[in-house]
Amino acid sequence: MADTTGRGTSRRAFLKAGVAAGGAAFGAGTARAAGPDPLITQVQPWASGFGDGVDATPYGLPIRFEGDVIRRNVEWLTADTISSINFTPIHALDGTITPAGCAFERHHSGAIELAREDYRLMVNGVERPTVFTYADLERFPRENHTYFLECAANTGMEWAGAQLNGAQFTHGMIHNMEYSGIPLRAVLKEAGWDGDPAGKWVYAEGADASSNGRSIPMEKALDDCLIAIRANGEALRKEHGYPARLVVPGWEGNLWVKWIRRIEVMDGPVESREETSKYTDTLADGMSRKWTWVMDAKSVVTSPSPQAPVTHGHGPLVITGMAWSGHGRITRVDVSKDGGRSWETARLAADPGNKAVVRFYLDTVWAGEEMFLQSRAMDETGYVQPTKAQLREVRGLNSVYHNNGIQTWWIKPTGEAENVEVS
Ligand code: MTE
Ligand code: CO
Repeated sequence: MADTTGRGTSRRAFLKAGVAAGGAAFGAGTARAAGPDPLITQVQPWASGFGDGVDATPYGLPIRFEGDVIRRNVEWLTADTISSINFTPIHALDGTITPAGCAFERHHSGAIELAREDYRLMVNGVERPTVFTYADLERFPRENHTYFLECAANTGMEWAGAQLNGAQFTHGMIHNMEYSGIPLRAVLKEAGWDGDPAGKWVYAEGADASSNGRSIPMEKALDDCLIAIRANGEALRKEHGYPARLVVPGWEGNLWVKWIRRIEVMDGPVESREETSKYTDTLADGMSRKWTWVMDAKSVVTSPSPQAPVTHGHGPLVITGMAWSGHGRITRVDVSKDGGRSWETARLAADPGNKAVVRFYLDTVWAGEEMFLQSRAMDETGYVQPTKAQLREVRGLNSVYHNNGIQTWWIKPTGEAENVEVS
């Protein structure tokens, strides 16, 4: 995509010149000009008048220079935008919380507009079949938790080899938000379900035409599932299931039913389309893995990466990325610069959350050498993120879903990066 950041070209040219002059000693961030820097010595237009009033932006968007930090899709995947997917610009984000405005979307029949007044949640297969309104939901005690949602198809296009040139496209079917919601167990209890979970399931359906129906074992439903009514402090966005969605921590995104309208307690799974012909993994011998709910530990370097090349010359370089595990907490992330021959342990930016994204950094010095950058996540179960070769050995090449293999970015001496595989 063309540079649409709108940054002043004179400033960019100046920064480049500065790097050329001062790059040898401390390249990053030290732009040393030969003469006086007008940005320091002269009063600039933004200091000679007033800025916008507080009435200019009742609800804000990022400043126009950041206009490139947007969801994108992959054309050949998106012939039809109704049953489709777009990708989070993870290459341009930092920290862990995904801003809702650029958090990826996946719809099977489009994003619907469902008003709170028209919202109903039916719970049946229970002692007291009940229909809850949105106002009813708001009166349940609620909890706050940050969780990642990863579509099972994330990285799915990479099974056969390196394909898409950008972390946004290879790993962008993920978002990480703070949810405010009602434990599903409380809603079930209110409808009179208080039984033995053994052998019981719930079937969850959305209000959209696809319904996206999924069966969930009762143990999980009672454990940590939420009916979320807020994300990142505000109402869910339309595209993320306004006014209420199911949150199924650590489990594949398809189970997180949006616009949740019905929950039925059942004696077995429904075996719906979304859990038989889709979201299963066909192995080399033709047998399929099924009920592959938990998203295994995974990580990716988000910068540098193909859409985030090194542009500041030699010297200090911040390598950063994100890691997550559906089994709990990430305990360690290693980074390799030589395609997995040697590893350095990265710094985790904060205490890793349960089933949430953690940010990692490797603060390093780069002298322009070629790198084959990789990251490898480990979680509290002792699981280590596998290489793509290890994964293919077990799963074969028929799979679409659940590709958590180690990603490689080839960083060239120019600072550009490319999606490659090493063997
Ligand atoms: N729920 C409904 N009702 N309809 C859908 O199409 N898509 C599912 C899931 N829940 C879907 C749904 C899939 S495959 C994923 S990965 C997540 O929602 C995507 O959630 P998001 O759009 O908030 O990113
Ligand atoms: Co999905």
